[in-house]
Amino acid sequence: MIVSVLITPGLSSTTTTFNVLQYGAVGNGQTNDSPAFMKAWKDACQSKSHISQLIIPSSRTFLLKPVTFTGPCKSNYTYIQLSGKIVAPRTKSEYKGFHTNTWLGFSFINGLIISGKGTIDGRGSAWWQQPCIGNAQTAGCRPPTALTFNRCYRFQLKGFTSINPARSHITLTGCKKGILSNLRLTAPGTSPNTDGIDISGSRSIQVLNSFIATGDDCIAISAGSSMVKISGITCGPGHGISIGSLGASGETDTVEDVHVKNCTLTETLTGVRIKTHQGGGGFARRITFEKIRFVRANNPIIIDQFYCPHSNDCRNQTQGIKVSDVTYKGIVGTSLMEKAINLSCDQNVGCSNIVLDHVYIKPAVAGQKVFSFCNNAHGRATHTKPAVNCLLR
Ligand SMILES: *[C@@H]1O[C@H](CO)[C@@H](O)[C@H](O)[C@H]1NC(C)=O
Ligand SMILES: *[C@@H]1O[C@H](CO)[C@@H](O)[C@H](O)[C@H]1NC(C)=O
Ligand SMILES: *[C@@H]1O[C@H](CO)[C@@H](O)[C@H](O)[C@H]1NC(C)=O
Ligand SMILES: *[C@@H]1O[C@H](CO)[C@@H](O)[C@H](O)[C@H]1NC(C)=O
Repeated sequence: MIVSVLITPGLSSTTTTFNVLQYGAVGNGQTNDSPAFMKAWKDACQSKSHISQLIIPSSRTFLLKPVTFTGPCKSNYTYIQLSGKIVAPRTKSEYKGFHTNTWLGFSFINGLIISGKGTIDGRGSAWWQQPCIGNAQTAGCRPPTALTFNRCYRFQLKGFTSINPARSHITLTGCKKGILSNLRLTAPGTSPNTDGIDISGSRSIQVLNSFIATGDDCIAISAGSSMVKISGITCGPGHGISIGSLGASGETDTVEDVHVKNCTLTETLTGVRIKTHQGGGGFARRITFEKIRFVRANNPIIIDQFYCPHSNDCRNQTQGIKVSDVTYKGIVGTSLMEKAINLSCDQNVGCSNIVLDHVYIKPAVAGQKVFSFCNNAHGRATHTKPAVNCLLR
């Protein structure tokens, strides 16, 4: 059970603490504190106590250059108490020589907990001004994600704030059994590619009770992810909650067992969206959106099997990602666009068992209309407005 990572810090007699100040961190916002953090991490990670606790104290601002905190650790739980502020370098040139696409990395750690009221500031604005769309591999042109968790197992991220990342706030790759809760992730609605939480190749992940206002997807669940539960999310501005995109460049991708519940999306560009490319293989299945509230969302409900954002080859192909067993239940709210529901499925793989029940979307502007568009989607719509013509009633 995921719940087993919930622990009460400080009560165990086998908690050992490591304060970054004791390792020479200055916390004046000017000095590069990465070496001190690395030394403190090394000791905390090697400690054989049940819980080893790395303290990042309040009332200080720690400047960190790109660093990766690597496990496995000897302690059962490595607890990072994040009370202070961590800031990224202000300029792109300070990233020179770091071959990484992340600012703060956490890899191969079992039992990692990051908790506290601290703030992580990615100072991304220098990167946003020159987004390198189309040549992302060019040196100096790869905006780093603020926090990347790679192959972490049994982990918890709780209570902290992330602001203004150069790219995504949080990325999970190849992780298992994680709970992310009470996070606050913010960036301007206009900042490019600042996803809130990207989940890929990960299993048994819960994202709970968090506030996300950012420039791209609030949460994106992509290839190789399963058993993802999302609940109590307030999203907007942002692009909403997305599955995919899947199947880019003909890849075989799978996503299954995703449950999104009790979320409010305010003035988002899209609402809840499943997007797949033509030509790939695999599936997106057993996906539930329940008790979702839209407030002036632009395109509340989308399934798009023709997703093709910046490729010049957008031909229809015979292969694609199969979309099935998708349920929208107890959805209310308003749409800024007339097309409130767009189920756009291709004629070869298509979408099956798409169920809408108690879905009521009204126009955000009085006197406007809303409608559904529906192509090659199969399933059932009950108690749903606007009516979805290609589904059974
Ligand atoms: C870690 O947990 C295991 C199993 O719960 C236990 O046997 C072991 O003693 C613990 N290690 C420490 C360092 O507390
Ligand atoms: C629903 O989400 C809100 C946060 O948006 C939270 O305060 C509330 O407790 C959640 N309700 C349930 C039943 O989980
Ligand atoms: C692909 O097929 C869809 C639905 O059949 C159609 O609306 C669309 O225009 C086609 N796209 C291209 C690029 O041929
Ligand atoms: C629905 O989405 C598809 C795929 O993005 C798009 O081609 C189509 O124009 C949309 N339908 C309407 C009515 O806007």
